Amino acid sequence: MIETFSGSFTQQEPIPDDAIEAAVSVLRHGRLHRYNVAPGELGETALLEQEFAAQMGAKYCLAVASGGYALATALRAVGVAPGDPVLTNAFTLAPVPGSIASVGARPVFVGVTEGLTIDLDDLAAKADRAKVLMLSHMRGHLCNMDRLMQICDAAGITVIEDCAHTMGAAWNGVASGRQGAIGCYSCQTYKHVNSGEGGLLITDNEELAAKAVILSGSYMLYERHLAAPSPEVFERIKYDTPNVSGRMDNLRAAILRPQLRDLDAQVTRWNERYRVLEEGLHGTPGLTVVERPEAETYVGSSIQFLLLDWAAERVNEVIRRCGARGVELKWFGGAEPTGFTSRYDSWRYAESEPMPASDRVLAGIIDMRVPLTFSLADCQLIARIIRAEVCAVYQS
Ligand SMILES: Cc1ncc(COP(=O)(O)O)c(C=O)c1O
Repeated sequence: MIETFSGSFTQQEPIPDDAIEAAVSVLRHGRLHRYNVAPGELGETALLEQEFAAQMGAKYCLAVASGGYALATALRAVGVAPGDPVLTNAFTLAPVPGSIASVGARPVFVGVTEGLTIDLDDLAAKADRAKVLMLSHMRGHLCNMDRLMQICDAAGITVIEDCAHTMGAAWNGVASGRQGAIGCYSCQTYKHVNSGEGGLLITDNEELAAKAVILSGSYMLYERHLAAPSPEVFERIKYDTPNVSGRMDNLRAAILRPQLRDLDAQVTRWNERYRVLEEGLHGTPGLTVVERPEAETYVGSSIQFLLLDWAAERVNEVIRRCGARGVELKWFGGAEPTGFTSRYDSWRYAESEPMPASDRVLAGIIDMRVPLTFSLADCQLIARIIRAEVCAVYQS
């Protein structure tokens, strides 16, 4: 009998009941705008910021409209100007170079290793080309953050961490988003907390925090924030910082607060699924499992493996055969960006140099979502299907 999988790769879990109740009370009072608060009321958005700052051990936090907006705000706050080069990963998704382009700056792509992290030798070689690194922890893979920070500190590079895929992850016990000057997170449906759309930005730097608040559209109501610097810091920057509205609203914040309280438990559940998949794929001929470094605490909300040096038509055949059995795989080697995949050379608004070593890795990356609606038995079945189809094509 040929086994097939019938679950959905895009179905997340429902919003928890306590989050629904919190959302309904916001709807009942109608004060959705973050600065629309009753006398004495703190507001869901301000409370969310206060709680996330505490959870991450950060001094300041700002909630915004999306992860991509948080990235662009971070770039503006650190002073990236039109025409400036910004280092970033060759292996990432469109919102990352998009945020750089949105401020008129130029992405300078840094290669990817077989461990799916930024190539630190390539970064060191390009360190004199820009003053800012937008570091994308793409698909949750953390590079050696100690070495990365050494390279960047020595070269005077400001690091912005794109933690869209690493909320809940850590390197050597330091939470992702806490090593760079600013950490940015996404709360979009496919991420680790789900408010449909949304983003969070954290920093310990008072001036960057104040600029980010003004940039997000605070109408000078910054004193209503609970995780922002003191008014004197705003006084210094408020006349020179534009308003580029992209606020979070109280409805989304209400949905997020209970989910953030559950984050650790959700991470455990993701990782149980990830380990079942990883174990099921180990030892498959022709398939390389991406080994996770010991220093990395990851969140297995997706899994990647490599079909290194496979011909394109054979990779396509694996994807087609798995698809026919209900297993949705994405490929980063395709010539055209499809769905959520894309390559550094498909962003034609940004110049790129050829990167043969990265091209080889990208051409082999297969990517799969792991929603929490999958059971452990689902994960075993999915791994069996992938293993069988990779073997069939490899041996043919
Ligand atoms: C790697 C990465 N960075 C940033 C973002 C931006 O997040 P958002 O969709 O909330 O703008 C995404 C979203 O898919 C992403 O995958």
